[in-house]
Parts: sequence; structure tokens; C-alpha cells
Amino acid sequence: MEATDARATLSQHLPHWETLLAHKQAWNSDLNELFQLDPHRAEHYSLQVGPLFLDYSKNHLNETTIKHLLALADDCQLPQAIEKLLTGQHVNNTEDRPAWHSALRQQPGSALPQASVQDEIRAAKDKMCSFVTRLHEGQWQGHSGQTITDVVNIGIGGSDLGPRMACKALSDFHLPQINVHFVANIDGAEIHHTLKKLKPETTLFIVASKSFTTLETLENAKAARQWIISSGCSIDHLKHHFVGISTNLKNAIEFGIDEENIFPMWDWVGGRYSLWSAIGLPIAIAVGWQAFEELLEGASSMDEHFATADLKHNMPVILAFITFWYSQCWGAKSQAALPYCHQLQRFPDFLQQLDMESLGKSVNIDGEAVDYPTGIAIWGTEESNGQHSFHQLFHQGTQMIPVDFITSLRPNHPYTGQHQQLLACCLSQSQALLEGKSLARAKQELMDSGKSKAEAEQLAPHKVIPGNRPSNTLVLDQLTPRSLGSLIALYEHKVYALSVLLNINAFDQWGVELGKQLGTTIAGALHSGKLPEDWDSSTRALAKRILDR
Ligand code: F6P
Repeated sequence: MEATDARATLSQHLPHWETLLAHKQAWNSDLNELFQLDPHRAEHYSLQVGPLFLDYSKNHLNETTIKHLLALADDCQLPQAIEKLLTGQHVNNTEDRPAWHSALRQQPGSALPQASVQDEIRAAKDKMCSFVTRLHEGQWQGHSGQTITDVVNIGIGGSDLGPRMACKALSDFHLPQINVHFVANIDGAEIHHTLKKLKPETTLFIVASKSFTTLETLENAKAARQWIISSGCSIDHLKHHFVGISTNLKNAIEFGIDEENIFPMWDWVGGRYSLWSAIGLPIAIAVGWQAFEELLEGASSMDEHFATADLKHNMPVILAFITFWYSQCWGAKSQAALPYCHQLQRFPDFLQQLDMESLGKSVNIDGEAVDYPTGIAIWGTEESNGQHSFHQLFHQGTQMIPVDFITSLRPNHPYTGQHQQLLACCLSQSQALLEGKSLARAKQELMDSGKSKAEAEQLAPHKVIPGNRPSNTLVLDQLTPRSLGSLIALYEHKVYALSVLLNINAFDQWGVELGKQLGTTIAGALHSGKLPEDWDSSTRALAKRILDR
């Protein structure tokens, strides 16, 4: 590793940084005390934006904290940065281009200036809509004349996680005509298990790859092509079974996708921000064009809020402030996203790429190494499953892990009693994190259950729960295409606002390239059977073991 001495500090970028730090050093309030001091704390620290309600009152913050964070936002010109993002300026400086996912969902009459790319977007959406309609009306047939009934999306990362998450989230809105499946992994097991349930004659593949160079996607697409050919399909008729989504027309055509069947992507849409583009086709196929439009409308209303709300009442900005405060001043190394909503089961996976691929950087936008933490780990699972697994670490572990609880007031299923229980579970976890359990209470409970005083004293320390641990609670009115759109856009903008505070580029991901380069070399060596002498002994020995199997 190269030794570099001078590192960029937060105070160079944020002149008020030291003030926030001093505020933290003087912080001596307990969360429970904050609630006692202000009986209206929940009202003071909550926001409603369209179908989303955010309660951020269970956080270690007060008006002074917010004032200092607002001063930092002023230092880094956050309002101007928001405008730059939403008006298509080159916020992705290392690739010299915009990150204009908001243009893809801009609505007529929007408060934002009309994006110059609207004509291209309209043309792409028209093409998507007519494709979806043909599929739904049974007009798209396979090589033997049978109607397509199953669509398999082959893609990975941003070309998989967003559509896969949204299709699961909106499964209550699925139309019956077409079943949508996803294959991402290079592990042949995934495509094997997917295809064995399907018939080649009635299956259509979407090869989704912005670059059309991604190893996993190309390998899976080749396997799919072979599967279709084996069913008796001639090369000329492959176009009945393959469509593509890419910026790389040349590679997509070389692969064998008919030019007519290629939906456009643009370099100004990042992979992890691309579900609003043709990458969202599986969503539109699953839920229909109208519901897909509603998803875009939900996101667009969050764009307008992000653009126009003052920072103190700006939901994405508030979420960014809270994560910044904990990662920079409280030493938080990770944050949990916990959907109390089975249908949002894939939301943590989606959020991992969105947040960690955007914020996992060690240099600032000018390429200077930073001396402060940037992205932190994001993790979670559908709840209430996690309560019976890793919540122990939240409650009694030594680290403070801020949590985002995400739930919906109304369910999309008839089991309303169970939904009430789910909501009770969600509230109980944030309340337990807040309140904890004191030594005295633990002792008393033990004695009440029949333990002797001596036994209670011995056991009680194990039952103490420190409490005073922070969380946000996000409540959707109901999980619908519109509220899902708003939820996704909320987190997209949170990540951007955080990147501006951290002075890093949220829209590149150079870190993933090295593994891809080395993977190509290793695959070549395994293929030829010749292992380079200069490899480390661990990789050589493992590769030898593979060759000797
Ligand atoms: O390897 C990371 C990555 O480049 C992601 O940023 C992207 O979403 C994913 O791979 C897939 O890329 P593509 O759509 O070009 O196949």
C-alpha cells in the first residue's frame, strides 16, 4: 500500500464540523430523558411526505443538533447540490456525466425544469409500453407459435436488484398473464432451477446489462440461448425469445439480439438507479403499464419534495443528517434496515447496493484520500424474522447500531389481525431499543417470578438491556406502486445528500473493477491449467486444488 500523509479532513470541506463535534463531546442526554423533557417530542421530530410518515424522534438529537447539521449543509452547499442533481448537471465527476434518474420519472407540470432528455425517454417508454401490451395481450409468440407465458430477467447488480425487489414488493398487484422470474448468479444452479420449471417454447428472456460486458449476465444469457436452441429453435427465430436492455448496442447485437428488440439505456443513468428506465421492464410486465407509471409518479413526488422542501423538513436530508451524525460523531459502523413487511423482503438487498456501492469510497471528489469514515455497512432482513435471530446484538451487544424500521399501516392481505401483531412487533422493538431494562427492574422481575434475592442478584446483570439506542420508523400508508416509488426515491436522495456532506462521488464504483479483472485472469489460468508463479501462495494453492479435483 502506498503511504500518503496528507488526508482531506471534514473541517476543510465543512467549516462548522468542529462545532458539531464539540456538541457531541458535550452531549450527556439520555433518549428517555429527551422524551420526558418534551412531551411533544414525537410531533416535533416527525414528517409526512405523501404516503410516507417518518418518526425520527427516537434519535440522539435536539434542536441544537439540527441547527449544527443545517450549518454543515450550508457549508457544503447542499441546496445547490440538490439542484445540480435534479437538473442533470455532471454530478458524477469521475465519469463526467449526470446521474439523471429523476428525469426518467419526471411528470408533466413538474416544479422542476423540463429535462432536456424527455423526448428520448418518451420514445423509450412508448416502446416499453407497446412491448408490455403485446405480451399481456398474448401477441408475442415463441418460435413454435405458442404464446409467451414466462419472462426471465437475466441481469445482476442494478440490472437485477431493483426490478427483483419491486416485483416482490408489488406481488399483490401482479397481473395473471405473465410470470416473471429472475436469474443473476454465475452459479449455474440459479438458471438450472429456474429453467427446469419452464417450457422453452413459451419463455422469453430479457438480457439486462447496461454495459453488456458483465460476466455473470453473459454466461447466463449463453446458457439460456442454448436452452432455447435445444428446443428446436433456429438462429433466425431466436428473436422471438430474446430482448435486451443496454447502452452497448454493438455487443447486444453481436450476442444475437435483434436490434428491434433492444431497449435503450443511457450513460446518465447509474445501474443502481436504473429501475425507472427499461431496466424496470420486468416490473411493468408483472404489474402492468399503469401501475409502473404509478411507481414513477410516487418517485417523482419525492423528487419534488427533495427539490422544494426546506432542509429542516426535507425527509431525505433528515435521514442523511441522522446517518452522518452517527457515522461521524458516534462511531456507528453499520445501520440496519428492517422492513416489517414480508413483501419488502428484498428491500435490504436493494439498499445495500444503493448505499454501499455509492458511499464505499476512500477519496473525496477531488481524489484526495479522506481521514474520516464514509459509507457504513447496511444490512437487515424481513421482520419479524430478525427478532428471533440478530436483534440480540441490537439490544445487548456492545455496539450502537442505528435502525430504520419500515412498515405499512394497512396490509394488502385479509389477515388484519396478524397485521396488527406485526405492527406491535415493530413498535415493541423500537420501544425496547429506547427504554431498555435497568438492573433494578431485572432484579425485581426475577424475584417476582420466584427467585431468591441471591439468585436474582446473580442473574440480573445478564438481563440488563442498556436501551438509549436510536431508530427511525418509516410508515407507509399501504404498500402500493406509488408509495414504493416514494420509498425508493427517498433512499436514493438520502444517499446523495449524505455523499454531498461527505464530499464524495456517489455515482461511480471503480472498486468493483479489480475483482472483475482478476476474475478474468484466474478464469483464463484455470482454463489453460497454467498458474502464474507470481500469484500469492493462497490463491495458487486454492486454484491447484480446483485443477486437481
Ligand atoms: O459490478 C458492479 C456493476 O457494475 C454495478 O454497478 C451494476 O449495477 C452491475 O455491475 C451490472 O452491470 P451491467 O448492467 O452493466 O451488467
